[in-house]
Amino acid sequence: MSAGAVGRAHPRLEGPEKVTGTARYAVEYPLEDVTYGWAVPAAAVRGRITRIDPDPALAVPGVLAVLHHGNAPRLSPDVEAELYLLQEPAVHYRGQLVAVVVAESIEAAREGARQVRIDYDTEPHSTVLTADHPGLYRPEKVNPSFPTDTSEGDFDAAFDAAEVRVDATYRTPAYHNNPMEPHATTAQWRDGRLLVHDSNQGSTAVQAALAELFGIPRDSVRVISEHVGGGFGSKGYPKAAVVLASLAARQVDRPVRLALTRQQLFGPIGYRTPTIQRVRLGSDADGRISAICHDAISQTSTITEFAEQTAVYTRSMYAAPHRRTTHRLVRLDVPTPFWMRAPGECPGAYALESAMDELAAACGIDPIELRVRNEPTVDPDQGHPFSSRNLVACLIRGARRFGWGDRDPRPGARREGRWLVGTGVAGSSYPARARASAATATALPDGGYLVRINATDIGTGARTALWQIAADALDVPPERVTIRIGDSDLPPASVAGGSMGTASWSWALTRACQELRDRLGHHSGSLPPEGLTVAASTADEIRAQKPMARYAYGAHFVEVRVDAETGEVRVSRMLGVFAVGRVVNPTTARSQLIGGMTMGISMALHEEGLLDERYGDWVNHDFATYHITGCADVEQIEAEWVDEEDSDLNPTGVKGLGEIGIVGSAAAIANAVRHATGVRVRDLPIRLEKLAGSSSFT
Ligand code: MOS
Repeated sequence: MSAGAVGRAHPRLEGPEKVTGTARYAVEYPLEDVTYGWAVPAAAVRGRITRIDPDPALAVPGVLAVLHHGNAPRLSPDVEAELYLLQEPAVHYRGQLVAVVVAESIEAAREGARQVRIDYDTEPHSTVLTADHPGLYRPEKVNPSFPTDTSEGDFDAAFDAAEVRVDATYRTPAYHNNPMEPHATTAQWRDGRLLVHDSNQGSTAVQAALAELFGIPRDSVRVISEHVGGGFGSKGYPKAAVVLASLAARQVDRPVRLALTRQQLFGPIGYRTPTIQRVRLGSDADGRISAICHDAISQTSTITEFAEQTAVYTRSMYAAPHRRTTHRLVRLDVPTPFWMRAPGECPGAYALESAMDELAAACGIDPIELRVRNEPTVDPDQGHPFSSRNLVACLIRGARRFGWGDRDPRPGARREGRWLVGTGVAGSSYPARARASAATATALPDGGYLVRINATDIGTGARTALWQIAADALDVPPERVTIRIGDSDLPPASVAGGSMGTASWSWALTRACQELRDRLGHHSGSLPPEGLTVAASTADEIRAQKPMARYAYGAHFVEVRVDAETGEVRVSRMLGVFAVGRVVNPTTARSQLIGGMTMGISMALHEEGLLDERYGDWVNHDFATYHITGCADVEQIEAEWVDEEDSDLNPTGVKGLGEIGIVGSAAAIANAVRHATGVRVRDLPIRLEKLAGSSSFT
């Protein structure tokens, strides 16, 4: 029955357009009469604007308007505090976008933005997360709606009684999302209707937010997001650029293009919160864990509460009868943190998978064996069965492919010339969820098919994967299928986030295609000129899903070499083996997985937002000073997967793989560095002075 497109490697459908430059991004659509917006950041950390003098900006030739809280069109305050822009004089963090200059050219807009004069009344600020901050509190829940704390058994007693104990605190810094395409929008109003070309991870939500902000019906707003140059979570919800461009276009009554600058991505779009995480593991001498506790501290802003679910990973990963997790938060005078690839799981797994390595060393057993010994039979958190759980299969296959068997466990034992060489392993897990979406499928009189859904391809290859899935669901060669995504006029769909995109969208598409085949089976005669269209929604089906623990799993294997003199770390080899359900397109799947793993190298070794408390902001807010992993930092990297069939997920059996590649990756690197050098670095990134400055370093 299946045409067999799923599972076959296929280049991206839009690849030729992208490499020839004809794929249009948000501010690239040709447009008559277009103007340019440039956002103005606040120079105060906390306080209020007392005066704005637009005159020097308006004197710049070509400048048309300066929007600010005193003159901007009004927005509804009920949508989201984060989007209530240019409405109030309050300043919540340095860099908050408090004005927009609109001009005939981008150069004039930029110069105008430099000339706006703003006076502030300032108050003392607090911008640094500490474990004893007086503002620490317990949020009501953590993202998206998990209990803040969990407890089973008696952790304290079990930990006290344990033969072997690990008690370690791990720290991760602020990490900044930097998609190649910044947050960018072209906005135009016509007859009370708003059309935006916008860079986001889900334009159904952008359409809804704009309609509410401006108090107009949803069908008066159209959001086109055909090609998106990355997001990593930062575009998972409407953000400043689309609101500012829409406000400005309304004010000047002409189309406005507005793209945030690279520097403006360091703050206003959100960032991965810094974390302070204490992990305690208690086991017997054989490494059987009896007690497990993960206490996580992170930050939010004074604008709105963002509670990262840092310790949630620990709730379901390894077995232990006595367990506890907690989350505490501080409101600081900083921008609101937001999603960054595997929010929660990623920093949480760095801590837990590092602590597992410490426990393995303390027990004197192999870190793979330790994980195998603590494999749960049901989800330790909820008690539900796993729809499929192939962590051990990933560990075993990876160990064989990587050559783990020959490993001398002694730290610092392997030296090759000036290099100390070590290897490390870590587990990985990420939820496999789906959200309600709608889709249509149309049979055309010429024998072709058209499938439509407002999915978003942020560079993942989603468009291509969905096209393959639709072809199989229609049981026709994929060449006969055309797919349309990235437009809010299409059937509404869930966000490209949480590794839920392909699962959610393919579910709706499959149902529409199946229903269409059914209808065609009963249809006689030729099709009408507009074709035969059926629509499907998965809302009821997803609501009726039985509760189960649905997760993807993985294992990371890393070899590092560390310069014995300088402490320079190089990642010589990295292998990830994953259990991600059915792989639809091996080409784009591998690209997602090694992309996540590379971001893990970046997290472990390079990225760090350096905050200066006096200035109240990160001082390294550009690519000259905020380091990220480049191609030369990745010497050998490979991702593969185990065969996995899981019938308790969705019709295609996909688990999603946008995020699992980063989860656990930084721990595997830190574990390899410890094996190479004997030095355990518990605060990322692992910089050379943390190694060369350590007394245990050779
Ligand atoms: Mo991902 S951080 O859920 O886009």
